Amino acid sequence: MYLDNAATSFPKPEKVYEAVLHAMRDVGASPGRGGYRQSLEAGRILFQAREAVASFFSITDSARIIFTQNATGALNLALQGTLGAGDHVITTSMEHNSLLRPLYALRKKGVELTIVPAGPDGIISTDNVRRAVQSNTRMIAVSHVSNVCGAIQPIQQLSELCHDVGALFLVDAAQSAGHLPVDVGCMGIDLLAVPGHKGLLGPSGTGLLYVAPHVPLQSVVQGGTGTNSTAEDQPHTLPDGFEAGTHNIAGIAGLHAGVEYICELGLSAIHQHENALLLQAEHALQNIAGVTIYGPAVSEKRCSVLSFSAQGVDAAQLAAELDHGFDIAVRSGLHCAPLAHRTLGTLPGGTLRLSPGWFTTSRDIAFFSDAVAQCINKIRRT
Ligand SMILES: Cc1ncc(COP(=O)(O)O)c(C=O)c1O
Repeated sequence: MYLDNAATSFPKPEKVYEAVLHAMRDVGASPGRGGYRQSLEAGRILFQAREAVASFFSITDSARIIFTQNATGALNLALQGTLGAGDHVITTSMEHNSLLRPLYALRKKGVELTIVPAGPDGIISTDNVRRAVQSNTRMIAVSHVSNVCGAIQPIQQLSELCHDVGALFLVDAAQSAGHLPVDVGCMGIDLLAVPGHKGLLGPSGTGLLYVAPHVPLQSVVQGGTGTNSTAEDQPHTLPDGFEAGTHNIAGIAGLHAGVEYICELGLSAIHQHENALLLQAEHALQNIAGVTIYGPAVSEKRCSVLSFSAQGVDAAQLAAELDHGFDIAVRSGLHCAPLAHRTLGTLPGGTLRLSPGWFTTSRDIAFFSDAVAQCINKIRRT
């Protein structure tokens, strides 16, 4: 039983598999690299996927979407492509290493970094972020939803703060895209980093970055774009100048199908289903002696994941017991977000994280909760 959809979603809708196969079997070619029919068809797949994704996030110009390998690729491009020595960036203690590590690397090149600690429930105070603003603050970079405890950050308030102080607003939507509505215009987002393979239900190896029209972006990868080939310098045209090399056309076709599937179902149906499962798990786990659940107390302030620990039980051992004894796939440890664990008080062992998806059922959660109780008893006995 797969309960690690926060890492990557599984299974995918049937139409995602079909779209991948179609792109590989029937199309095969690279887009923008030839005038023959197959290449033109690949170009159509690419364009239609871009349009679908743009509409999903209420982006008016789909050319402002750059396809990447994953959210990590999008975050690296957003950070390295906009920041330089002397710039100041504010981020939070709830971030994934995909955002923190590029920032640590930039710090070595003269970018100033402030990491604002979240409260013990994982939620950031906009007032604390405001207090960290300096005259050279160029960007505020936050994840919409914590991958450790599911805390939903006050995106609207943070966006207004960015607007007030003239900073760019970068949002890591790795755990919110496909779970919560994300509208770049209403939310005042300048740079949006999204994985294609998690909540959007696309294949692994897909992701995207949205760049607002007023954001100057430098490329971080140079190479063939199929355009402007005599120029020595990398073209700065969007999106091709930022998508050097051959596209993952099968993955992008699958991503388009994933987004279509979500639109057919309705995002709110997915959100309600996942939230009901998380609440069910929370209630069942609360009945196990010595279990602590992390994150905001009210369910409206969290989504996508549930993290917990059990007194006297190593999270990694519990995950291994669930895998070996019950064939349940969940993640344990630090979830690539070490500062979040310092905030939540779950260092050094981390937590056990459950992340159901659209295909998870209430019976699955009942089976999972029962298995957790049995494994905890077994570990405590030994
Ligand atoms: C909050 C957050 N940001 C970024 C990432 C990186 O995503 P990807 O694996 O698509 O690079 C993850 C992955 O788990 C995440 O949870």
